[in-house]
Amino acid sequence: MTGLSAERQRVLAARVGLVRSMERGGLVLSARMAEAFLNVPREPFVPVFYRREGDRFSPWAGTRPYTEAWLAQVYADDSLITEVDGVHAEDAGPGPVTGVPTSSSTAPGLMADMLDALDVRQGTRVLEIGTGSGYNAALLCRLAGQAHVTTVDRSKRLTDTARDRLEALGMAPTVGCADGAEGAPEEAPFDRVVATCSVRRVPAAWFDQCAPGGLMVVPVKGALAGGAIAWLQKRADGTAVGRFLHTPAAFMPLLTGPQSAPTPPEIPETPEVPEAEVGSVRRVSELSGSVLDDWTFSFFAYLHLSASTVRSFRQGPDGTHVTVLFDPLDNSYARVTDHPSGPGATVLTSGCRDLWEPIEKAHAHWLGLHRPRREWFTLHAAPDRQTVAYTAPDGREWRWDL
Ligand SMILES: C[S@@+](CC[C@H](N)C(=O)[O-])C[C@H]1O[C@@H](n2cnc3c(N)ncnc32)[C@H](O)[C@@H]1O
Repeated sequence: MTGLSAERQRVLAARVGLVRSMERGGLVLSARMAEAFLNVPREPFVPVFYRREGDRFSPWAGTRPYTEAWLAQVYADDSLITEVDGVHAEDAGPGPVTGVPTSSSTAPGLMADMLDALDVRQGTRVLEIGTGSGYNAALLCRLAGQAHVTTVDRSKRLTDTARDRLEALGMAPTVGCADGAEGAPEEAPFDRVVATCSVRRVPAAWFDQCAPGGLMVVPVKGALAGGAIAWLQKRADGTAVGRFLHTPAAFMPLLTGPQSAPTPPEIPETPEVPEAEVGSVRRVSELSGSVLDDWTFSFFAYLHLSASTVRSFRQGPDGTHVTVLFDPLDNSYARVTDHPSGPGATVLTSGCRDLWEPIEKAHAHWLGLHRPRREWFTLHAAPDRQTVAYTAPDGREWRWDL
């Protein structure tokens, strides 16, 4: 046996291992999905990716013959970060970098769940927003046929590289460098629209470019951790109706314009800022800030925060959990410092609104509704208004504007 064929066998074994581990993780893979993941390699799309070490990221290149450790990471059911603050792992120096991840290859289990919900068959016309590494586009080519796939990313570095890598595997979908918020008007209409970056609301262009009866699978997320995946069907009247997948997902945001990822507010090192200094109000809350780390609640909380609110949190040296909510539109600010032992928090607010109050109310409401799960909510979307609704078993209905 030659060295190369031994390596090929190891790669194939790793790919089989990935499909098995996705199934062990509770995902029921359709035969089409398993076939696609077994036949599309991941390693050509992520020859170098970043390893996270605390708040630093170090590039890790796969040199031939691949080491067991590198191959295991490529075929783990994990996302692989490929870009930090716009610096591709392949362009980074050998040392670690800090910053915000701006592109990654999504965890395969999540990709499989989304692709399965997208229900792609041979000949289905698909638009993907967020080409990234190109691995998901390759899976779409396998499922739909390369001639029917269009994928766009805002980064030319990413689209040029992905196009080359897809071509090397004999796949030639339409790969465009554009603001995905505009879709791909020259290739429309599409039977399917899938985004691999998150939005607060589904952009109007995606509706317009989705054919009636077509499906959209779109990560929806605000400032909080627990984003959700919306699954929508376009209706003949131009609106779309659907639900949320069970799987939580925290995709990086769709960035429009030249800006980089939104910067969360700074949390001062000393949590105890004197009240007079910041013109703030201090009060006690029965609710700990860490409640927002609970992804089952944070989906519900997200419905109660304005679109412009950002959140950051950190663990103090003594383990104290500190959450900050900040709305740059009116400079309202809430710092929620959890009590070191037991529930509750000290809340310091400034500006014209108490940003913690809607979260407290939302939490009480959520408990009163018996902690409804994201997949029990429906989404009604029109280009001008998008609402999330929940109907309780007793028939009462609630509705929130996105
Ligand atoms: C999670 S990654 C995509 C993963 C990709 N599908 C893959 O298989 O590797 C999210 C991508 O969204 C892209 N993105 C962010 N804002 C965008 C925009 N306005 N238009 C198009 N792409 C955007 C980022 O550049 C990034 O590559």
